[in-house]
Amino acid sequence: MMDFEFDIEGGNFTRAGTASSAVKKILNQLNVDYSVIKRVVVALYEAEVNVVAHAYQGKISAQVEVEGITVVVEDEGPGIADIEKAMQEGYSTASDRVREMGFGAGMGLPNIKRNVDQLNITSEVGKGTRLEFRVNFSQ
Ligand SMILES: Nc1ncnc2c1ncn2[C@@H]1O[C@H](COP(=O)(O)OP(=O)(O)O)[C@@H](O)[C@H]1O
Ligand SMILES: [Mg+2]
Repeated sequence: MMDFEFDIEGGNFTRAGTASSAVKKILNQLNVDYSVIKRVVVALYEAEVNVVAHAYQGKISAQVEVEGITVVVEDEGPGIADIEKAMQEGYSTASDRVREMGFGAGMGLPNIKRNVDQLNITSEVGKGTRLEFRVNFSQ
């Protein structure tokens, strides 16, 4: 089992994707199927972008095992009041600044859900959000 940790800086779009690129490299070295790697990278990238776009700072921890990967993304931020609503396609509270940068289509969370085998989101308004997902390496 291998553990990886990454910090995410809220507002810094130039660094969004750092963790997903690093994890992609690791999974490539482990000869995980490309179709599976792609799902992990999409989900992790969307989770990273959400911290950058919506929160102040966050931490990612990724646990790689023989059978799969578990990722926890925890942030300090405004939290999500209605998670079910946030999961709907097209729902977004992204600021104008975030939209100008090409983000805020409201497809991130639905995209994460579509690509992972297990997803759990908990959030406390005014405090932050915790997103955990699991992708199995063999179907
Ligand atoms: N880490 C987060 N902290 C606070 N709010 C979030 C977070 N992630 C998602 N959200 C909320 O859920 C909504 C939908 O997220 P998402 O589907 O990724 O769309 P988008 O990021 O394009 O707005 C966001 O607009 C925001 O209101
Ligand atoms: Mg998003």
